[in-house]
Amino acid sequence: MAEDTVVGICTHFGCVPDYRPDIVPTDLGSAWPGGFFCPCHGSRYDLSARVYKKMPAPLNLPVPR
Ligand code: FES
Repeated sequence: MAEDTVVGICTHFGCVPDYRPDIVPTDLGSAWPGGFFCPCHGSRYDLSARVYKKMPAPLNLPVPR
């Protein structure tokens, strides 16, 4: 992971999202550009920890100062 850090607690119900920098892995589909994937309910975040639209998680992953 890059030197930047995010809080690895999903903003939906608190599961731990997986860091998935791999591009187009077979389990996440051909549109996956890398990012964070929460295995509990499927929320997807980009590499900057921003949550995609229409995900269960309501907010981006927190980024500490
Ligand atoms: S806890 Fe992460 S998607 Fe529900």
